[in-house]
Amino acid sequence: MTGRRKLRSAAWFGGEGKNAFMYRSWMKNRGIPDDLFDGRPVIGICNTWSELTPCNAHLRGLADYVKRGVYEAGGLPVEFPVMSLGESNLRPTAMLFRNLASMDVEESIRGNPIDGVILLVGCDKTTPALLMGAASCNLPTIAVSGGPMLNGNFRGQTIGSGTHVWKFYEDVKAGRMPVADFLAAEQGQSRSAGSCMTMGTASTMASLVEALGIGLPDNAAIPAVDSRRGVLAQLAGRRIVQLVEQDVPIARILTRAAFENAIRVNGAIGGSTNAVIHLIAIARRIGVDLDLDDWDRLGRDVPTIVDLMPSGRFLMEDFYYAGGLSAVMRTLAEAGLLNGDAETVSGATIGEIVKDAPIYNAEVIRPFGRPLTDQGGIAVLRGNLAPGGAVIKPSAATPALMQHKGRAVVFENIEHYHARIDDPALDIDSSSVMVLKNCGPRGYPGMAEVGNMPLPAKLLKQGINDMVRISDARMSGTAYGTVVLHAAPEAASGGNLALVRDGDLIELDVAGRRLELFVSDEELAMRRNHWSPPPLPPGGGYQSLFVERVLQADQGCDFDFLVGRRDAGIPRHSH
Ligand code: FES
Repeated sequence: MTGRRKLRSAAWFGGEGKNAFMYRSWMKNRGIPDDLFDGRPVIGICNTWSELTPCNAHLRGLADYVKRGVYEAGGLPVEFPVMSLGESNLRPTAMLFRNLASMDVEESIRGNPIDGVILLVGCDKTTPALLMGAASCNLPTIAVSGGPMLNGNFRGQTIGSGTHVWKFYEDVKAGRMPVADFLAAEQGQSRSAGSCMTMGTASTMASLVEALGIGLPDNAAIPAVDSRRGVLAQLAGRRIVQLVEQDVPIARILTRAAFENAIRVNGAIGGSTNAVIHLIAIARRIGVDLDLDDWDRLGRDVPTIVDLMPSGRFLMEDFYYAGGLSAVMRTLAEAGLLNGDAETVSGATIGEIVKDAPIYNAEVIRPFGRPLTDQGGIAVLRGNLAPGGAVIKPSAATPALMQHKGRAVVFENIEHYHARIDDPALDIDSSSVMVLKNCGPRGYPGMAEVGNMPLPAKLLKQGINDMVRISDARMSGTAYGTVVLHAAPEAASGGNLALVRDGDLIELDVAGRRLELFVSDEELAMRRNHWSPPPLPPGGGYQSLFVERVLQADQGCDFDFLVGRRDAGIPRHSH
């Protein structure tokens, strides 16, 4: 293998000294022949496999496809586990551990003899956590998503992950669905390996992986159990070896142009609000200056053309058969809304990949002139209730409520909400504005997905399905409603949200991008004098680090000390 560029892994495996002996010898306990340490690229397969992360439980198998590809291209694959974040199981919320997992990823890459990385991701937070850690290392990197589950099916009805949990539970609360039927739907919702098959956070992030160019074409939508998912993983294994040989670090792919494409794609697919936080965090790791105003400015004119739940009718399996994300990006490109020159890990530009992408079903992927909603992007609201910004997803909201003035019904925290929401004496009607405090990054460490707080049963029984809701929390990507989220600064950090009281008048004006609390500055100052921050969570440990160092939602909720690129370098050794 003469003439090869000297790789990072050579600092471990190259040479004839004592150290090289030690590094190689222990690796050989798996039965690796001498010639695989001849200076060929060592490819780390960073795996979030876990049986506690059901959406990623099939990733051990997918890693084997990656390994095939790496061997075929002349590399040496080494699979390693990192902390896996399962949205459905992990308490109090998987988001609490996104930054922790990103540190695991970054240090596992930096500390080991790795020249390039495949990130095996799936469930919501696993994608941003691995991209954040890899971005800080800046080695050649490809993300491979695990793929969505097959369409849910219950008694002949197509049902979507999460979205139908919310819907069915409302039906139970309103007396329209027996509890036994509700429970019977569990297995039908989750029919196969894979992640949520609605356009929730996992599918959104898998789509943005493709839009950013950090995944191969079709990464977003091939179902987890479709044999083509294995082929994609194998091709990624081949390709990462070439990226190492060509010295294409992740910073070459994750450029400002790539992030702009991702923001527009998020609008076109009706993507999750969680993507706002994650994309800003990834961008800040790689050194791209991205903020909330970019989200509003770039997404403002993008209609949602993908008709998927929770905003629409179909699911990810349908999306793949309809043409997948390439078809969406082709539509954006033809409307002049795609930076076609952005490089991708495939070697082709994004424009080259999508220029002839076919659309097989114009109901699932609609033409630009017949969108699901005209305003697909994330609207960024500002005003005295959220000077640092708040977000709303217009495509998931009720049009009539996007301009609304109403009296606040305030919940001091999520426990207060649960204790109060179905109290028959609660003074609330359909014009009220529900306000939830202390669920932001610090107030509920990790920023709970409770912003789409269910409506009171007494209003659901009257047929009320949506109300304006405002909080510093997040919302599940599978949820819907006229829900204002991520208010910054959060209540627990002394944002004005902390000062709202029952009966205060609040105006939401999505078209004007405003969120106003009609309380005078003098009165707010007086209330602030009587306000004290809520107690920090007890117990020390990681939660204390989180609360002390987490940034606000508008800055991506990263830890202040993790922002930026540190590159992998070659650490010192101690033997
Ligand atoms: Fe894992 Fe939805 S719970 S992707």
